[in-house]
Amino acid sequence: MARIDHPGLARKVVPADAAAALIEPGDTVGMSGFTGAGYPKAVPEALARRISGAHAAGEPFRVNVWTGASTAPELDGVLAAADGVDLRLPYQSDPVTRAKINAGEMDYLDVHLSHVAQLAWEGFLGPLDVAVVEVSGITADGDLVPSSSVGNNKTWLDRADRVVLEVNSWQSPDLEGMHDIYYGTALPPDRLPIPLTRPADRIGTPYLRCAPEKIVAVVETAAPDRNSPLAVPDETSRRIAGHLVEFLEHEVERGRLPATLLPLQSGVGNVANAVLAGLGTSRFEGLSAYTEVIQDGMLDLLRSGTMSVASATAFALGPEAQEEFLRTAREYRDRIVLRPQEMSNHPELIRRLGVLAMNGMIEADIYGNVNSTHLMGSRIQNGIGGSGDFARNAYLSFFLSPSTAKGGAISSILPMVSHVDHTEHDVQVLVTEQGLADLRGLSPRRRARAVIASCAHPDYRPLLEDYLERADRGAYGRHTPHLLTEALSWHIRFLETGSMLPR
Ligand code: COA
Repeated sequence: MARIDHPGLARKVVPADAAAALIEPGDTVGMSGFTGAGYPKAVPEALARRISGAHAAGEPFRVNVWTGASTAPELDGVLAAADGVDLRLPYQSDPVTRAKINAGEMDYLDVHLSHVAQLAWEGFLGPLDVAVVEVSGITADGDLVPSSSVGNNKTWLDRADRVVLEVNSWQSPDLEGMHDIYYGTALPPDRLPIPLTRPADRIGTPYLRCAPEKIVAVVETAAPDRNSPLAVPDETSRRIAGHLVEFLEHEVERGRLPATLLPLQSGVGNVANAVLAGLGTSRFEGLSAYTEVIQDGMLDLLRSGTMSVASATAFALGPEAQEEFLRTAREYRDRIVLRPQEMSNHPELIRRLGVLAMNGMIEADIYGNVNSTHLMGSRIQNGIGGSGDFARNAYLSFFLSPSTAKGGAISSILPMVSHVDHTEHDVQVLVTEQGLADLRGLSPRRRARAVIASCAHPDYRPLLEDYLERADRGAYGRHTPHLLTEALSWHIRFLETGSMLPR
């Protein structure tokens, strides 16, 4: 059998529908998947069919779904469309799921990605009934060759009562040896320091383990990962990237960063990808990454030699980059390390390595509080993902965004954010296409002046200056001056008129 060298497990191969039949209504299911990589391709669709059949017969059928992070339409999309999910955690970005959550029809627990495994071990999330995990092979000894993402798979395999494996022969066989699965974690008071001091360090084994008797079914697939293609960087993203690269060069000149920088963390999306492209044409060399995902721009940096090594928990490659990786995976095997997300996002390691964290945001306020997750204070967009793991513990934490959204009807720089994910204490540098505000060492009123002058769009800048000036005169206190009756009035104006600009 392709990719299944363990005779006992080869005998457990069944069709996806038979594997899905082992999942019961009310079960909590831990699935693999992190971005559009390494998620199970067949069992979730079979489960969605089963759920739809039950609903058509008037029988209730919903499950709780835990993953690594976002997945793809074949997992989140189909289960949400079948109305089959009671509670979903952690990060997700599927449009059908998002609509259900915002309609109040699905519960969503948005937690820091580094916290998920320990929450499960601590027992705070309740029992895990089933794990459904994609692997790229099973060795003769029964070791599991991980797939294109690791995410929380180690924890799901350890904690679940029953395990279903999907063995995906589409994944490159050269993934074998690329992973580093650390089995040294423990709960307090038995926790020890994690022995990792460089992004390239390997401190565990290349394989996932699972007791064969727990494995109740094995399903063979040969389907591709699915990530959305990234846009060619537009003028706005290029300008954001330009400000950031210039700042990094300046920090090197001032002796505050080494010439090879420090390990980079780069968030998801087009702006993050543009920053990586900007680094590719800069004078930097010998870069490294200690990050969550390896996206197209990072693969380019590795290929050109500008980056020497990247540690992550998953790939997030667009279709073209994915094709290229499939052809050339062997060349990257010593320069890419994929780890469980509790390691890729571990605060201890991020602080020790001195990571430069670069993440997107929805909005920031003049004092530097950042909202990464909610539109107009109540509607979830995606989730906090790993941004909090990195931002609070980074050597430098950057948040990046265009200065406006929705064709200028929304300012991303506001008197007060409508939801806080990253407090003013965790945010050091804000960057928009207008410029960069370095907030280190600045008191709140100085921060506000820097943010307004450097980051706000010219259409909104005078309005923010006016707000700050009046707040400074009329606020209850002048440390962080606010006019509480006005602080969220821009959001209210947008909801009422469709624009934050006064008529
Ligand atoms: N108010 C309302 N809507 C806004 C907005 C604002 N201030 N800023 C952006 N949006 C909307 C955009 O218009 C777009 O909507 P659309 O899909 O209807 O077109 C959507 O939000 C996404 O914005 P986009 O400009 O395409 O940004 P992006 O792809 O760079 O994503 C985040 C930005 C914040 C949504 C994304 O970075 C994210 O989810 N971050 C949190 C998780 C994270 O940081 N992960 C990385 C850690 S490793």
